[in-house]
Amino acid sequence: MDSIMILDRTLNIAHRGASSLAPENTLSAARKALEVGADMWELDVQMTADGKLIVIHDSTLNRTSNVEEVFPHRGSWQVHEFTLDEIRQLDFGSWFAEQDPFGQIAAGIVSEDEVKSYIQEPAPTLEQALHFTSEHNWLVNVEIKDLSDRPGDSQIVNKVVTLLEELNMVDMVLVSSFNHSYLAQIGAVYPQVATGVLHTKPHPRPASLLRKLKARTYHPRKSFIRLKDIARLKSLGFGVNVRTINDRKTMERLVKAGVSGIFTDVPQVLTSVLTNNRQNKT
Ligand code: G3P
Ligand code: CA
Repeated sequence: MDSIMILDRTLNIAHRGASSLAPENTLSAARKALEVGADMWELDVQMTADGKLIVIHDSTLNRTSNVEEVFPHRGSWQVHEFTLDEIRQLDFGSWFAEQDPFGQIAAGIVSEDEVKSYIQEPAPTLEQALHFTSEHNWLVNVEIKDLSDRPGDSQIVNKVVTLLEELNMVDMVLVSSFNHSYLAQIGAVYPQVATGVLHTKPHPRPASLLRKLKARTYHPRKSFIRLKDIARLKSLGFGVNVRTINDRKTMERLVKAGVSGIFTDVPQVLTSVLTNNRQNKT
């Protein structure tokens, strides 16, 4: 992972996969991200009731699946209340077809055949998502969701890192989290694993925070970071991956400012920005 931080170009990081083109946090979204030229994809990981690592963003299942139809009597949709077998029965694709969250179906950018192929899409386990990444010799940012008020809090870091090591994938993965004690634990016990810092508000001294957590990259919202901070962090050897940027003009400004990566739901747009930028330089 060190090698990507010294690349003299901005990484195209597909947020939750190409989430404008396919249902977020699925292998279809990862496949689309790869197809449109993303350098890396980002996913969110949590734990099921039986301690399995599952790829999903929300702490509840109902926004992105048909859990309410399949388990009408449960009355609560928390990820940690469902076993992996139960979650694997759910359809994580139909909501995308129905809601077209980024308007890409209406715009004709996602075809009818693609939409049909998303029906019954399962949520992948972290292991499946990592296998997909490795098979394509690709990179992934694994965001460990904050389980501090839920079961699994004391186990999730070890489970994620153990899996990365078993699959021999430490060099392909950047682990991030809003929970800084998870990052500190990785920095102290698994310094070979690259970490990125998420923060809910602007931090006055991001370099000190990164040093304290032994992290390699900072993942601020655009409004949290000043251009001079980008240059300073980069000169200190840290990466700066800005989130989550979907408009072309802002992408162009950030590329010019020298960020090391941009998280986006529209990697297809960022690919074209990066290609134009490279052509203008030659
Ligand atoms: O890593 C950037 C981003 O994934 C953090 O926010 O809420 O989309 O997981 P969220
Ligand atoms: Ca995320």
